[in-house]
Amino acid sequence: MTLTFPFDIQLAKDTGTLVTGARQHGKSTLTKHMICELRKRGYIVKVFDVAQVWHDVGIPVVIIRGNYFNIEDLNPMESRVFDISRLYPLQQKEFVMNILSQDFAIYSENSLRTWLFYVLEEGQIVLPKSLKAMYAQEAMRTVSIGANYKTSYILTSQRPADLSTEAISRCGQLFIGKHFEENDIKKLSKYLGWKWTEARERLSKLQKGQFIRFASKPELIQSSTWMPIYSTRLELQPQQTRQSFKMSFMKLWWTFVACIILWILTKAL
Ligand SMILES: Nc1ncnc2c1ncn2[C@@H]1O[C@H](COP(=O)(O)OP(=O)(O)OP(=O)(O)O)[C@@H](O)[C@H]1O
Ligand SMILES: [Mg+2]
Repeated sequence: MTLTFPFDIQLAKDTGTLVTGARQHGKSTLTKHMICELRKRGYIVKVFDVAQVWHDVGIPVVIIRGNYFNIEDLNPMESRVFDISRLYPLQQKEFVMNILSQDFAIYSENSLRTWLFYVLEEGQIVLPKSLKAMYAQEAMRTVSIGANYKTSYILTSQRPADLSTEAISRCGQLFIGKHFEENDIKKLSKYLGWKWTEARERLSKLQKGQFIRFASKPELIQSSTWMPIYSTRLELQPQQTRQSFKMSFMKLWWTFVACIILWILTKAL
């Protein structure tokens, strides 16, 4: 199978992939092209969509509202776009952690299956500079040992300076778009092996859809626009929480008491 742009799939399995660039530079679009190639090969893809931009890639979209649904209702062997845009950042981190943890439990025990790729949009949400939090530990486990159980990942980020250095260093394939912020350029120049001034000069000139692909050596690539593919939508309703269960029980109880009082009153009169 030939690719329309250089994306080394074997390398993407062995190591992670990073796509960075300023806002609206075409990161998600480039990543969609990668996902399309992975899907053609029959691999499972799970996208954590924080901006409702993954509704047009032909992968069923699960809209996540609230935090109380049962993730066991989701078939872990199927490709899904998890639209977590409606969750608060803390809930997003918890959701990603729960999915990664559930998948780890299943996949690390069962090796007879195809490859699974995660797309972690704005990767710094679960892989920030400090990896102390539980969600970051869970994500780091996937990033560091996932290849052993046929699991890999694509990270995207507007702000690589905020992304875990350990996670970036595990990416063997980098797609770097336009950057002009000093700390981002400083961090990326190390991986590119360029001096800071050279990195600033080269990266600040990139146009929308242009990326420097860096695996063993840097090369300029141009991504194309995305042709939308219809995706089905699935709403996962929040489960009844303990609080709302308590409320319903209390309502039932008071209705029962009112009925008894009415009955006594009618008997007495
Ligand atoms: N190669 C391209 N050529 C022309 N336009 C493009 C290209 N890639 C993306 N675009 C357009 O640029 C806009 C932003 O694209 P996209 O959502 O992929 O960017 P992004 O970097 O992921 O944005 P964000 O920083 O908000 O996540 C879209 O309107 C898209 O159609
Ligand atoms: Mg995007």
